[in-house]
Amino acid sequence: MRETEEVIEKYRKAGKILSEVRAEAVKKVVEGASLLSVADFAENLIREKGGEPAFPVNISRNDEAAHSTPSFNDTAVFGKDMVKLDIGVHIDGYIADTAVTVDLSDNPELVKAAEKALADAIEFIHAGVNTSDIGGVIEDAIASFGYKPIINLTGHGLERYIQHAPPAIPNKRMPHGIVLEDGDIIAIEPFATNGAGRIHDAGNAEIYHLISDKPVRHPSARTLLQKIENYKTLPFAKRWLGDHIDFAMVQLVKARIIQPYPILKEVKGGLISQAEHTIMVMQDGCEVITK
Ligand code: CO
Repeated sequence: MRETEEVIEKYRKAGKILSEVRAEAVKKVVEGASLLSVADFAENLIREKGGEPAFPVNISRNDEAAHSTPSFNDTAVFGKDMVKLDIGVHIDGYIADTAVTVDLSDNPELVKAAEKALADAIEFIHAGVNTSDIGGVIEDAIASFGYKPIINLTGHGLERYIQHAPPAIPNKRMPHGIVLEDGDIIAIEPFATNGAGRIHDAGNAEIYHLISDKPVRHPSARTLLQKIENYKTLPFAKRWLGDHIDFAMVQLVKARIIQPYPILKEVKGGLISQAEHTIMVMQDGCEVITK
C-alpha cells in the first residue's frame, strides 16, 4: 500500500541523510582507526544533518554478519578486516536502512558478489514480483562468483518505528513468497560468504530493544527504562545509556522488558560481505531511497 506523499518525503529525507553519512563514514574505516570513533562519527553526523539513528551503527568484521556495535569504552581498532557498516536513519519514525562493505582484507570478489546481488535484485523488482524470485536472483548472483548467500538472514519491510517488519526478503529461492505491491518500502540486504552460508548467535550483545513496558521494581532499572523509552521500539546501543548500567540492564533483561540482539557469526567462520539499500516498489521498477 502506498504511503502518503508526506510520509514518502520523510523516507526520502532519511535516505538522503543516510547516503551522505555512509559516504563520509566509509572514509573513516582504515587500519588502526577505532571502531568506536567510526560509530560515534556516523551517529553524530546523522544528528547534525537533522535525522536520528534508527539503530546503533553496526560495525561487523570478518565472520560477523550483524549486531556488532562498539561498547562504551571500546578500544578495538580495525586490522586487515572485511568490515560491514550497517547504518539507519529515521525521520519521525520513518526508517532508511543501508549497508556497505569496506574491505581491508583484500577479498574484492566477495565484496562484488554482495554488490552484484543487490544491483540485480534492484533491477528485477517492480510491483507484482514475488519475494521468492528476488531470493533466486540474489542466490544466482552470489553463486556466479563461487560464493554462498547467508540463507538465515533476510531483507525486510520497514514500518514506522519498526526496523524489521514483514515481508522477509529471502537471500535464496524459496518454495513460497509474497507478491510485492506498488508503494511497499523494503530493505534488500544480501550477504555473501566463503563459509557454509548460515549464521548463529555468538552470545555477547551490545544492542537491545524494548519488548514490553511493564513496571519494574528496582529504582536504577526504572531510571534506565525511562531513558530507553526514548528509542520507542527501535534498537539501541548499551553505550548510548552511559557507564555503570550493567546491574540495571540485567534487571530489565530478566524481567523481559528489553531483549538483546546477540552478535551473529558465520557458522564455519567464513568471511562475510554485505550490501543493502532501502527501496520503494513502483509499478514499473523501484526507487532507491538510500542511493
Ligand atoms: Co536492514
